[in-house]
Amino acid sequence: MRSLHSHGPEASWSWIDRLRRWAGPRPQWVALALLLLSWISLRLLSPWWPAAMGGGSDELQAWCHGVLAAALAWCCALPLWWLMINAVFPVATHYTLAQSWSPDWFLLPLLLLVALYWSNCLTRVPYFPSQPAVWILLGRLLSPRSGQRVLDLGSGMGGLGLALAARRPDCSVVGIEVAPLPWLVSWLRARWQRSGCAFVRGDYRRHDWADYDLVFAYLSPAAMPALWAQASRQLRPGACLVSCEFGVPGQSVRPLPGSGVRGIPPLYAWRMEVDRVLRPVGRGEYAGQ
Ligand SMILES: C[S@@+](CC[C@H](N)C(=O)[O-])C[C@H]1O[C@@H](n2cnc3c(N)ncnc32)[C@H](O)[C@@H]1O
Repeated sequence: MRSLHSHGPEASWSWIDRLRRWAGPRPQWVALALLLLSWISLRLLSPWWPAAMGGGSDELQAWCHGVLAAALAWCCALPLWWLMINAVFPVATHYTLAQSWSPDWFLLPLLLLVALYWSNCLTRVPYFPSQPAVWILLGRLLSPRSGQRVLDLGSGMGGLGLALAARRPDCSVVGIEVAPLPWLVSWLRARWQRSGCAFVRGDYRRHDWADYDLVFAYLSPAAMPALWAQASRQLRPGACLVSCEFGVPGQSVRPLPGSGVRGIPPLYAWRMEVDRVLRPVGRGEYAGQ
């Protein structure tokens, strides 16, 4: 019998396979829909819960809700992360509501989270900063020529941009960030430090990369196919694309020397050639050698 999670080319186009193919690119919406579906099902069934099972008490329903939502997520072959969210969310909500706290207590954390994560549920690229070791390795990719332009896609709180601008004041560094709170922090830090780094609030997918010599991305696996397509369209010959930690599906490349070891995430780098093809940056081209 074929495994529930098999995705081989031999997989038939049964309804479950079709559902999984559809669910794959949009796990957040599918997880939400499954949470709702399982909640509605349990509510409809609640009059028939036996007294021996607490007559369908709220607590029992919350646990069943979590188990059912996680099981449905597993049937849809959602990644483990979403199974855990679906399992924990109803139970955590139940016990939080049981505290009878005023709803006002939730408003400030909600606003903070919205300002921090903004459209991350759509882009599927959350905030987490890169390490100083990555900034140093990235700086070595810049040639000694002055006037080069660097773009940090999703610049977060600005650590990378500020460090690079301090190290190479002869170059121009721009960070673009979609979430208001990280952007504001980076902008204030740049003012405070009198840094030459410019932080722009916006969506990098709507920004033209043609003016830059080095484009740096620390995003997520979900963002990589579109990132590659945009780089292929917009980078000018000679410009480099560097991805921290996440590779591009179908593009095998070795990490830059010094990365991918001792807890430093791998850095993958490609250069746009004159024939408009992105090719891995050769080890000999890397100033860190
Ligand atoms: C993993 S963090 C990287 C932060 C920073 N580049 C660093 O290296 O420390 C990714 C950032 O990208 C931002 N982001 C996600 N999608 C974006 C988009 N479409 N346009 C601009 N920023 C985006 C997120 O808000 C998050 O702050």
